[in-house]
Amino acid sequence: MLPPTVALVTGGTSGLGLAVAERLVAAGVIPVVTGRSKERGDRAQELLGDPAVYVCGDVASESDVTQALDVADRLGCLRIVVNCAGVAHAAKVVSRKGPHPLQEFMNVVAVNLVGTFNVIRLSVERMITNSPVEQERGVIVNTASAAAFDGQVGQAAYAASKGGIVSMTLPLARELAGSLIRVVTVAPGFFETPLVEAVPEKARLGLDRDLVHPRRWGNPREFSGLVAHIIDNQMINGETIRIDGAVRMSPRSSHRPGE
Ligand SMILES: NC(=O)c1ccc[n+]([C@@H]2O[C@H](COP(=O)([O-])OP(=O)(O)OC[C@H]3O[C@@H](n4cnc5c(N)ncnc54)[C@H](O)[C@@H]3O)[C@@H](O)[C@H]2O)c1
Repeated sequence: MLPPTVALVTGGTSGLGLAVAERLVAAGVIPVVTGRSKERGDRAQELLGDPAVYVCGDVASESDVTQALDVADRLGCLRIVVNCAGVAHAAKVVSRKGPHPLQEFMNVVAVNLVGTFNVIRLSVERMITNSPVEQERGVIVNTASAAAFDGQVGQAAYAASKGGIVSMTLPLARELAGSLIRVVTVAPGFFETPLVEAVPEKARLGLDRDLVHPRRWGNPREFSGLVAHIIDNQMINGETIRIDGAVRMSPRSSHRPGE
């Protein structure tokens, strides 16, 4: 008998990642969810129920990700990795406060891009030893953003971090094809999650003007539905799929960060 299928869902304690973890539980997959806030993690674990497990940690840390992967190995066979951990950020390249703090730029890239790659490299090291099931050893789904394509004023760091995820998708898929592992990226538009609840009302109204159809923000369940389809559909590989209701963000955010 095959061991249970385990999924690592980074950022699985909140928003889009939590919706993915809920869907995986419903499909009989055991999710190991990670996130930085223990309080959110404990709440997520309670919501997801047994046998889901929360592991506290930073995606950019080798030891934290290794700890999560060790937990996954004890629970079954890691065949699915969904990278949802990420941070939002807004700052102009020069504002009244001075130049964009370099450390902020590096922090956003460290979490969103380097963190995603860190999880991929450490997960793949284990996935390549899986026995293939239906000619596949595993699938990795990353989360970029519409900002990777049409980032607004103030999104240089965020857009760069997400653009890096888009750019590494195809070379990773090509490299890992020989190991029977797929790599796919999803680029969401606006979704109702704690990440964007902090957006001020004025900025939100500005973003609403860009909506096309449907004229509403996405529900995390719509995101998790796409991720579930990607996991099931072996023909999707090496691609970035936008899920944004045809939104193309206007150049200027109504929120003027750092001003
Ligand atoms: N919500 C949207 O409209 C939207 C749009 C485009 C892209 N995204 C992307 O989707 C992903 C999920 O966002 P969300 O809206 O669900 O946000 P969220 O704030 O609800 O969840 C983010 C998760 O990432 C985790 N996280 C943050 N930094 C981390 C780190 N260094 N190490 C480990 N975990 C960390 C948090 O603990 C949390 O679990 C992010 O990558 C975000 O950039 C979201």
